[in-house]
Order: sequence, then structure tokens, then C-alpha cells
Amino acid sequence: MSQPNEGQDGLDYRETADITEVHASFVREHGEPRAGTMPIPTWLGVVCAGALVWAGVYVGVFHGGFSPNVYNEYESTPSAFFPLPGGAQETGPAVEEPLLAVGAKVFGQNCVSCHGPNGAGVAPNPPLADSEWVDGPEFSEKRLVAILLKGLKGPVSVKGTTYNGAMPPWGQALKPRQIAGVATYIRQSFGNKGTGEITEAQVVAAKKEFADQTSEWTIEQIKAIPLTDKLEGGAPAAAPVADAKPAGDAKLAPATADAKPAPATGFDLSASIERGKGVYALTCMACHQLTGMGLPPAFPPLAGTEWVNGDPRRLVAITLKGIMGPMTVDGKVYVTGMPAPGAAFPQLKDDKNLADVLNYVRNSFGNKSEVAITPEFAGKVRAEFAADAVPFSEETLKNFK
Ligand code: HEC
Ligand code: HEC
Repeated sequence: MSQPNEGQDGLDYRETADITEVHASFVREHGEPRAGTMPIPTWLGVVCAGALVWAGVYVGVFHGGFSPNVYNEYESTPSAFFPLPGGAQETGPAVEEPLLAVGAKVFGQNCVSCHGPNGAGVAPNPPLADSEWVDGPEFSEKRLVAILLKGLKGPVSVKGTTYNGAMPPWGQALKPRQIAGVATYIRQSFGNKGTGEITEAQVVAAKKEFADQTSEWTIEQIKAIPLTDKLEGGAPAAAPVADAKPAGDAKLAPATADAKPAPATGFDLSASIERGKGVYALTCMACHQLTGMGLPPAFPPLAGTEWVNGDPRRLVAITLKGIMGPMTVDGKVYVTGMPAPGAAFPQLKDDKNLADVLNYVRNSFGNKSEVAITPEFAGKVRAEFAADAVPFSEETLKNFK
């Protein structure tokens, strides 16, 4: 008789007839696949949920109004969806970025390398400051837009010096609104005194009219455009600036005792700050942002800067006259220049609005100032600088008296 462990060959394989015992070792090594569905591991759930939330926020913030120009950083308005604390957005529908702000950005990104931060021209390129083609006897809106759309090459005389280079055409690279913006910007910056806006509609009209021009202009071709030729879609003629007084003694008057803001007796600072919020949204926010943190490298912050929190008379003066040339704020150099807000925004022709916006700025974004700027004080500083329309440079501001 064979033993239970014996194979047919009579050898003892130490096997039992019990199949489960025989397979026990395999079962131990390979877990049986589980039938049915398993729950999703918690970590995977968390990662997916996180990704969904992120995607939602991303689309929310950068939806750009789902408009076709959403990829255009100059024209989409990301902050429109999420009003940030501070609430200036509550004052109305999202404000379209002012033309001047569009222009300042375009200039900072596309023109500054050749024409210089203060428009003086980086050799061998011509200046825009005080150029007859930008704001002088050879200027017309049509000529300037023509130059910007199609570029310029060959000899051209600017301020008595002949330049012979080539300026690239911008008609393809920039949108009509950007061209309108930069044209308006260079006419009001660097000490140029152009008034009014060059509108998007005018650029569109010019684009159509000059569609056949396929290479850069020569200056003879530009001169052949009569100065009286108008572009359709122009802005209504700008009202004469009310406070442009004939030049008197335009020197900076030394600070006198009564040039400090009056102690704010009977002046409601918190009401002024509250009103200033709305003025800020219209006149400063496009560049210095809702948060007051600016938009480096183009626009400096207003939070915690010496220019904002220091001498109130100097702050009023800066806001009235603007800044040109490079300026260091918080250790970063800004070269964009600030076209005089006091001239660019009609709201700021009113001393009350001017005082309100500055009180708001001096008491927001972490700034805190007990010293109120009253409309009377703002008016006094306005009168003091009325005759002097040249924007400040950092140098003059540092020696501000
Ligand atoms: C690559 C260098 C370069 C860039 C970038 C450039 N320009 Fe020019 N620009 C020139 C040159 C060079 C001329 C003179 C062309 C000539 O010699 O015919 C000129 C001429 C001009 C003129 C007419 C002459 C004058 O000095 O008034 C204007 C206006 C002007 N540019 C505006 C702009 C604006 C606005 C931008 C930005 C959108 C810009 N340029 C970007 C080089 C440049
Ligand atoms: C078109 C864009 C623009 C607008 C609008 C604008 N600023 Fe500025 N601002 C600038 C730029 C750019 C600078 C830096 C100056 C430079 O580049 O030389 C600046 C600088 C300043 C400074 C000095 C530097 C600092 O950051 O403290 C103050 C103060 C200031 N702006 C206040 C204002 C106030 C107040 C308003 C609204 C009434 C205003 N700005 C509107 C662009 C702008």
C-alpha cells in the first residue's frame, strides 16, 4: 500500500491530498485580486478636488470677460471678476483702462529702448520730447498715426538734427487702441503739451486709408499729408485747460509756514477718504492698481512710499504735474513716467476731488496719516505751480522745497 504522501512512482513528495494545503504558500505570496470596485484613495480625491478648485479660480480670474481679446494683456481686465478687498470696484461697472494708461504701458514696452525713458532719444534714435512731429509745426494727428502704423526710414530732421535710421512699423504688432494710447501718451509726456486724445476710431480709419502703404514711409511722404487733413472719429476738441495761467515766476517757491496743510479743524477726514475711493478708481487705479501695489516694472506702488506719506505739498504737486524720467521706488527703478494726472483727468481740476483722492491714498494700502489735505490747501499748491507745466524729475523732487 502506498503512503498518502507517496507519488505513483513510489517516492514521497510530502504532498497531502488537501489542495488548500498544497496552495497555501502561493496564496501567501500573491494576494488574490479583489473583485468589484474599490473606493478612491483619499489622497487622490483631495488632489482632484484641489485641481478642480484651482481650475475654477483660474478661469474666474483670467476669464477676461470671455472676449476675443482675452490674450491681449493690455485690454483684458482680470480683476473684474474678483473685487479685491478695498472695494473701489463697487463704485460701478469695471472701468475701461484709460487710454493714457494703455499708452504708458505700450511706451514702456515698445518704444523706451530707442526713444528713451524721458523721450530724449537714445542715440542714434531721435527724441520725442519737443519733437515737431509729435507736438509742433509738423504735427497732425494723421501724420503721427501714419508714422506709428507704418514706420519711418531715411533721413528725417528732428529739432534741427538729421537722423537717418529706421523705425519699425507698429500697425501689425499693436492694436488700434494701443496705437491711439501711445500716440496720446507721447503727446502729453516728456514736457510735450499736446491736448486731447487720439482715438481708437481715428487709428482704425488711418489703418484703412493707408492699407496700400506696404513699406516704411519716407519723411517726404509724411510731409505730403496736408496738415489740415483730419482723421475721422476724432475726440471733441479738448476744452482749454482752466488753470493754465500765463507763465509768471515759475520757480518753486520755498516752503513757507502756511504751505503746510492747515490743521483739519472742521474738516471731516474720514468722509474725504470715503469720497476719495471713487476718485482713485477713475484717476489712479489703472496704473497703481486697486491694491495700491502698482504693477512693477511699469507702475510703482503707492503703499508705504515716502512720496505718498511724506510732504503733502510735494504729493499734491506730483499729482498735478506728473513725473518724467527714471525714479526709484522701493529699490526698483521705474522709467515709464507719469503723465500729469491733474491735467489728464478732468475730475482733478476740482480741488475737493484732488484733496479727497490724496487723503484716500494716504489712508489706504496700509498708509495712515492724521494730517488731512484740505481743498484749500490743494488749491493753494495748484496756484503755486500753475505756471509751471513741466513734469518733475526725480532730481527736482529730491530737492523739493
Ligand atoms: C528700433 C528703435 C525704435 C523703436 C523701438 C521705436 N522707434 Fe520711433 N523712431 C526710430 C527711428 C530710428 C526714427 C527716425 C526714423 C528715420 O530716421 O527716418 C523714429 C521716429 C519716430 C517718430 C518721428 C520722429 C520724432 O522723433 O518725432 C515718432 C513720433 C516715433 N518714432 C515714435 C515711436 C513710438 C511711439 C514708438 C513705440 C511704439 C517707437 N517710436 C518705437 C526708432 C525707433
Ligand atoms: C498713466 C499711469 C498713471 C496714473 C493714471 C497715475 N500714476 Fe502715479 N505714477 C505712475 C508712474 C509710471 C510713476 C513712476 C514715475 C516714473 O516712472 O518716473 C508714478 C509715480 C507716482 C508717485 C511717486 C512714486 C510712488 O510710487 O510713490 C506718486 C505719489 C503717484 N504716482 C501718485 C499718483 C496718484 C495720486 C494718481 C491718481 C491721482 C496717479 N499717481 C495716477 C503712473 C501713473
